[in-house]
Amino acid sequence: MNFASALNNKNKFLIFGCGFSGNFFAKTIRQLGCTAITSSRSLNKDPNSFVFNSENGIVPNKKIFDGVTHILSCIPPDKNGKDPVLGSLKDKLKSLSLEWVGYLSTTGVYGNTKGDWVSETDQPNPFQNRSHKRLNCEKEWLESGLPIQIFRLPGIYGPGRSTFEAIRNKKIRVIAKKNQVFSRIHVADISNAIIYLLKNKNSLKFHRIINIADDEPCSQIEVIRYCYDLLGLEMPKPILFEDAKKELSPIAQSFWMENRRVSNKLLCETLGYKLIYKNYKIGLKNCFLNN
Ligand SMILES: NC(=O)c1ccc[n+]([C@@H]2O[C@H](COP(=O)([O-])OP(=O)(O)OC[C@H]3O[C@@H](n4cnc5c(N)ncnc54)[C@H](OP(=O)(O)O)[C@@H]3O)[C@@H](O)[C@H]2O)c1
Repeated sequence: MNFASALNNKNKFLIFGCGFSGNFFAKTIRQLGCTAITSSRSLNKDPNSFVFNSENGIVPNKKIFDGVTHILSCIPPDKNGKDPVLGSLKDKLKSLSLEWVGYLSTTGVYGNTKGDWVSETDQPNPFQNRSHKRLNCEKEWLESGLPIQIFRLPGIYGPGRSTFEAIRNKKIRVIAKKNQVFSRIHVADISNAIIYLLKNKNSLKFHRIINIADDEPCSQIEVIRYCYDLLGLEMPKPILFEDAKKELSPIAQSFWMENRRVSNKLLCETLGYKLIYKNYKIGLKNCFLNN
């Protein structure tokens, strides 16, 4: 693998999928002097953006790839379970001299551990159909021959996308389910952890799969209560999951079918990354102040 140089202004990042995490990463990496250009499915006014849409076969002009050193894909599997980037551009990516390729995946590939901790050395055991698709996409990236690093992420939140928005838009449901926990990660820690690994790639052992999660998986109710407290409002009375279930969409129900604590020991102990937002309280305070 060509891991010769640390991050500098000669690096050009191509970021596929400029959604919540992709956009945050692009902004952060630009602040370090790197070039970052991002994809979206339709044309927009951003001069650093290009169109890529695997659904209708729109691929970037070949000039976009000139001088690219790093790629980050933030695009989920398509409806058929295929990876949109590899499905359309694998040969093109393989023809470039890339230093690094990152792929944002999900901790859903671990399946239901009934609340137990799960780490990168545990065998994936997907439960949901979408997680089987995700694991297949991970495999395709791992077998692509590209210098790939996969980041498994739990629920992503940050300014503009957190429980505060759900409360404000009246989409909040306060559901109680005994012993149920969720792991989560602040969007700034996704970018920061990746940048930390890239900056230190010459001194740190390279791991192809890394979880990025905070230190404190906890129940959804704790998070919601904390938001209501910060807002100075009273939290609505919780509804038992068994009663709430019938009104939940299939996708919302599916999130409650899995219960796991995602370990960040590889990232934070072995590799030495220091989280900016160690837990939901610190992270949500940041969202509260930036809303
Ligand atoms: N949200 C979570 O809590 C969470 C948790 C764990 C893992 N993940 C995974 O982590 C990654 C990043 O998550 P995110 O929430 O930051 O993503 P996001 O905001 O939903 O953005 C996804 C991006 O993918 C693009 N995209 C989707 N389908 C595409 C296709 N067929 N062709 C081209 N572009 C396509 C979208 O394009 P447009 O900009 O044009 O819409 C968008 O820029 C995703 O793979 C997601 O599934 C998310």
